[in-house]
Amino acid sequence: GTADIGVTGLAVMGSNIARNFARRGYTVAVHNRSAGKTDLLLDEHGSEGSFIRTATIEEFAAALSSPRRALVMVQAGAPTDAVIDALADAFDEGDIIIDGGNALYTDTIRREKAMAERGIRFVGAGISGGEEGALEGPSIMPGGPASSYEVVGPMLESISAKVDGTPCCTHIGEDGSGHFVKMVHNGIEYSDMQLIGEAYHLLRGVAGIEPGPMAEVFRDWNTGELDSYLIEITAEVLAQVDAATGGPLIDVIVDRAGQKGTGRWTVKSALDLGVPVTGIAEAVFARALSSSVPQREAGQGLPSGSLSTPSEPGADFAEDVRRALYASKIIAYAQGFDQITAASVEHGWDVARGDLATIWRGGCIIRATFLDRIREAYAQTPDLPTLLAAPYFAEALAGCVDSWRRVVTTAVGAGIPAPGFSAALAYYDGLRTERLPAALIQGQRDFFGAHTYLRTDSEGSYHTQWSGDRSEVRA
Ligand code: 6PG
Repeated sequence: GTADIGVTGLAVMGSNIARNFARRGYTVAVHNRSAGKTDLLLDEHGSEGSFIRTATIEEFAAALSSPRRALVMVQAGAPTDAVIDALADAFDEGDIIIDGGNALYTDTIRREKAMAERGIRFVGAGISGGEEGALEGPSIMPGGPASSYEVVGPMLESISAKVDGTPCCTHIGEDGSGHFVKMVHNGIEYSDMQLIGEAYHLLRGVAGIEPGPMAEVFRDWNTGELDSYLIEITAEVLAQVDAATGGPLIDVIVDRAGQKGTGRWTVKSALDLGVPVTGIAEAVFARALSSSVPQREAGQGLPSGSLSTPSEPGADFAEDVRRALYASKIIAYAQGFDQITAASVEHGWDVARGDLATIWRGGCIIRATFLDRIREAYAQTPDLPTLLAAPYFAEALAGCVDSWRRVVTTAVGAGIPAPGFSAALAYYDGLRTERLPAALIQGQRDFFGAHTYLRTDSEGSYHTQWSGDRSEVRA
């Protein structure tokens, strides 16, 4: 065959990535389970570059030059397994299968092992950027052996977004690391979106800013330290007028947030790793609450208790909200990077966190100017224990903390739920606190289960004989 790369799975993401490869001068073999999508792609965009239409997996395999490189862009889970197995049957030793879907990283580990046994190289690659990113340049997070990256890396880098000339694609590490970091990317995405949602809710509920004018507030925020894709599109969504009602579109969208799983996976993994990703967890649960229809119906009559809102919330309040948003966002990233650190240690992936921040600066959904600061923080101190300890972020938080407290207090007073802002502030205060009540929890554990405790003033484990004479013994 002559094709440089093949793409199978031609829904929006797959089609756009195939076009992206073709526009960069690669010959692209395209395949889809049903021919309709292949026809649609080639009818509409076949002139953009060199495509080879294939109808079966065998034709697809035959169209590819050796070693074959095929990108799988199908739904995560069973459909991905089915396509990978079919490809493996048609492929030869040394050929490479790249899974560009949102696979669960443990599936990727399993698939890579199974493929390795058949001599097929497997690359689990996280790809972010939505439809537009797929076409114009996504952020790509490929895992798997470095030797596979040597073969496919240059092509992936060439279709990725570029920031200051640097591709938003780099080898992440062995086996499931690429899909793991993409999963955490999505967890951070959930958190960012929830925080923006809370900012919107507060600006509207406390300061009475309507969606149209609020779009301007977000546009303004997008020129400063919050400069990011999600802030930019928030302004677009808020400014959108509904044709049917003539009012803001946001007011006719049902307020139940969907989720396909990556946020939930992030939190599950964080629980297993013992990493507190409270900002991400609150974001996942807030989506779940929004979709808890019977509970929300039952909750409509619950009393609010007496509420208070500031008498003249104006520009100062909006600035407070901006700072609370920025501070909470820093927390979400700090927590997400902690989770990546923990997983990297557990699996021996050796993920370079600065490189990750570098490839998230462009192409992906969480792209933001702020990621440059994270990149710099890890460049300065590669073994940073938390992002909050980096001078830039410590200073940023110091500049936000008064506003942050006012916003959380105001939200509580006004009866507006702000789980993202308040969980982030509680995390910050938790890390700051010199003596935590965990000492009491240790005492309780020792009381009911003789679980023992450490002492502040000497080595070793201790137990108080709670049901006896309450003297202390060394455990
Ligand atoms: C991306 C996105 C994408 C994800 C959507 C939807 O990086 O391009 O993360 O991969 O599918 O954001 O996710 P939910 O449906 O779970 O919100």
